[in-house]
Amino acid sequence: MADHKRILVTGGTGLVGKALEEIVATEEKRPDETWIFLSSKDGDLCDSAATKAIFEKHKPTHVIHLAALVGGLFKNLKYNLDFWRLNTLINQNVLHTCHLTKVKKCVSCLSTCIFPDKTTYPIDETMLHNGPPHISNFGYSYAKRMIDVQNRAYHQQHPDGCLFTSVIPTNVYGKHDNFNLEDSHVLPGLMHKVYLAQKEGKPLVVWGTGSPRRQFIYSKDVARLMIWVLREYNEVDPIILSVNEEDQLSIKEAAELVVEGMGFKGGLEYDTTKSDGQFKRTASIAKLKKYRPDFKFTDPKIAIKESCEWFLANYETCRK
Ligand SMILES: NC(=O)c1ccc[n+]([C@@H]2O[C@H](COP(=O)([O-])OP(=O)(O)OC[C@H]3O[C@@H](n4cnc5c(N)ncnc54)[C@H](OP(=O)(O)O)[C@@H]3O)[C@@H](O)[C@H]2O)c1
Repeated sequence: MADHKRILVTGGTGLVGKALEEIVATEEKRPDETWIFLSSKDGDLCDSAATKAIFEKHKPTHVIHLAALVGGLFKNLKYNLDFWRLNTLINQNVLHTCHLTKVKKCVSCLSTCIFPDKTTYPIDETMLHNGPPHISNFGYSYAKRMIDVQNRAYHQQHPDGCLFTSVIPTNVYGKHDNFNLEDSHVLPGLMHKVYLAQKEGKPLVVWGTGSPRRQFIYSKDVARLMIWVLREYNEVDPIILSVNEEDQLSIKEAAELVVEGMGFKGGLEYDTTKSDGQFKRTASIAKLKKYRPDFKFTDPKIAIKESCEWFLANYETCRK
C-alpha cells in the first residue's frame, strides 16, 4: 500500500467540496485513493492545534485545500478584516501542517476576483500580483494572493518537499451553493429571486441591462479539473480554470437559462437604473487548453437546470 493516496479535502461541505465528493463517488473512484471530506465541525482550521489534530487523525498524503471564509459583495465590503484575518490563519495552518507532516501535494483554491482592479484583459496567471485588488474585497483578495506567495516560498526553501500549487476558478455555481439574496454570487442569487417572483406572482427583475458577460463554471467541472490537477499538474504556478472566452454568458442569457431551469412562467424585466458593473472580466484559458485540450465543459443549460432543480428540492435546508 506504499502508493496509496489519502486525500484530505478541507472545506469538503461547501459548493466545490460537495461537487468533488460527487465526482469522486460517481466518475473518479480509484482503488489506490481514499478521500476524506472535512467540514468545520471536524475542527476549526483557524486554530493550529485543531489543524494538527486533524492531520494526525487522517494522515493525508495529499490535500485539496478549499476551506475559506467566502462571501459576496456586501459581506466583503463590511468584513474585510475578518476575510483577511481568518483566511490567512486557515491558510497558514493548512499549508504549514502539510509541510510538517510531509504531505506530497497540496492544491489550494484562489479566485479570479482577487486579480488587480486595474488590468488589461484577458487576465492570465502571470498577472495576479500586478496591482491592488478592487477595494471592496481587499481583505479576501490579499489573503488569497498570499497562498501563491506561500506556495513559492515553500518551494524555494524546501525544493524537495511537498508540492504546493493552486487553481484559479472563475464564477463557480452549482448544487450546495449559497443562495442568500444579499450575499450570493450572480447565478444562485438569480435562482432565489426567481423562486420569490414565482411565489409572489411578480416578474423577475434583473439589475442593469443584462449585457455584461461572465465566465461561469459549473462546480462539477471545477471538481473534475481539480482532480486532474491533483493527479497530474506539477507546477507551483497557478492555473486558471474557466470556460472559453466564447462561452461566456451575458447576464441576460444567464437569467433566461435560470428562468427556464426554474420553470418560471412570469416575465423578465431589466432595471436599467441599476449599475451594470464591469462589462467584461475575461480570464485567459490558454494554459488550461495547453494541458487539457480534450476537456469538455458541461452545457450551461444542463448545469443551470441541475442547479435550479437542486435548489428547489433543497429550498428548506440550503444556505439562503
Ligand atoms: N464560489 C465561487 O464562486 C468561488 C470562485 C473561486 C474560488 N473559490 C474558492 O473555492 C473554495 C471553495 O469555495 P466554496 O464556494 O465551495 O465555499 P463554501 O461553499 O462557502 O464552503 C466553504 C467551506 O469551508 C469550510 N470552512 C470555512 N471556515 C472554516 C474553518 N474556520 N475551519 C474549517 N472549515 C472551514 C466550510 O465548512 P462548513 O460547511 O462546516 O461551514 C465549507 O466546507 C474557496 O477557497 C473559495 O475561495 C470559490
